[in-house]
Amino acid sequence: MEFPFLCNDPQFTELVWQAEVAIDNGIFPERIYQGSSGSYFVKNPGGKIVGVFKPKDEEPYGRLNPKWTKWMHKLCCPCCFGRSCLIPNQGYLSEAGASLVDSKIGLRIVPKTRVVKLVSETFNYLRIDRERSRLKRAITEQFPNLRFNRMGLPPKMGSFQVFVEGYKDADYWLRRFEQEPPSERIMDKFQLQFERLVVLDYIIRNTDRGNDNWLIKYDAPASRGMTDPSEWSGEPEVRIAAIDNGLAFPFKHPDSWRAYPYHWAWLPQAKRPFSQETKQLVLPLLSDMSFVQELCDELHVLFKQDKGFDRGLFERQMSVMRGQLLNLTQALKDGKSPVQLVQMPAVVVERSKGGSTSSRFFDSFQQRFQHKSPFFSWW
Ligand SMILES: Nc1ncnc2c1ncn2[C@@H]1O[C@H](COP(=O)(O)OP(=O)(O)O)[C@@H](O)[C@H]1O
Ligand SMILES: [Mg+2]
Repeated sequence: MEFPFLCNDPQFTELVWQAEVAIDNGIFPERIYQGSSGSYFVKNPGGKIVGVFKPKDEEPYGRLNPKWTKWMHKLCCPCCFGRSCLIPNQGYLSEAGASLVDSKIGLRIVPKTRVVKLVSETFNYLRIDRERSRLKRAITEQFPNLRFNRMGLPPKMGSFQVFVEGYKDADYWLRRFEQEPPSERIMDKFQLQFERLVVLDYIIRNTDRGNDNWLIKYDAPASRGMTDPSEWSGEPEVRIAAIDNGLAFPFKHPDSWRAYPYHWAWLPQAKRPFSQETKQLVLPLLSDMSFVQELCDELHVLFKQDKGFDRGLFERQMSVMRGQLLNLTQALKDGKSPVQLVQMPAVVVERSKGGSTSSRFFDSFQQRFQHKSPFFSWW
């Protein structure tokens, strides 16, 4: 396994190590069947699910030659590949990038996600890889002194996300909240979590936040066991987990806003202006230009490890993100609501060509509005 950011995270290292021990002992990752592409539940030696692994080469366009892919989307029509505003086959980086943004700002809604390498028989391999592996095993039997790495299959690079327990699809709790509204205190707590989801999705310009791609955990008072007295006291908690962040960080704003809406914008929570708490958390960071630069630099370290990394496309991704940060900052200052935020015209903030030795951040950047305003409608 390999992680550029790992040294400071013993808990995560331990988790991935447990997954490797499990695999060595025949407890293999299991494909998630409802998923569109190759996603796997990864287990620990006890058979408990501890993570979700999404290998790069099992993403929808993963079987393509990286060089050919790069050439294609540079010269030809990226429209051949799913969402034309996204770099194809870098979903695993988007997953890890979302987690980076989340922890950098302190939102704490994305389960920790990093890029790792794993190998397992249950992954989807080319026939040639399997044949090679069989050959290696045959040789090992003949010459036991020669030892090959595990089962001889090549490790896969992908995103590894911590599995969070006790959560259900957002849809489930949103319906329940409508039928039996929890106390106002709980709904206020939920509102704060919801705002963090909005902040995350807006910054990374997530194109895939349906209500199936975020989870809610709510230990409703009635559902709590009364056997343990320590559970009687204390407020019930409500938490959001933002999963499936693989379709974010576009290199241009989507042509049609309506094609990739933020589905949370239709929820009643989106009509309330952002809270003081969210402003206090986010504004000091986002108004600090060295913080924004640091964020871009860290994303660069993460994204450049991909074989198909392209500096020009990365700059465009950051220009979109800086535009989103600019709008978000303005919306928070103006006391807007999430609905009003998504109605703001899309903007990109590009690095000026003539170098950036200036001490004032925005001297070296140019703002540009991309096409017409994306009108928001309720229906
Ligand atoms: N980190 C996680 N913690 C708990 N459950 C998860 C997590 N990630 C995914 N799941 C579960 O697995 C399902 C599929 O995962 P998702 O990331 O949405 O994959 P896909 O890209 O295939 O849609 C989710 O709907 C959710 O129920
Ligand atoms: Mg999903």
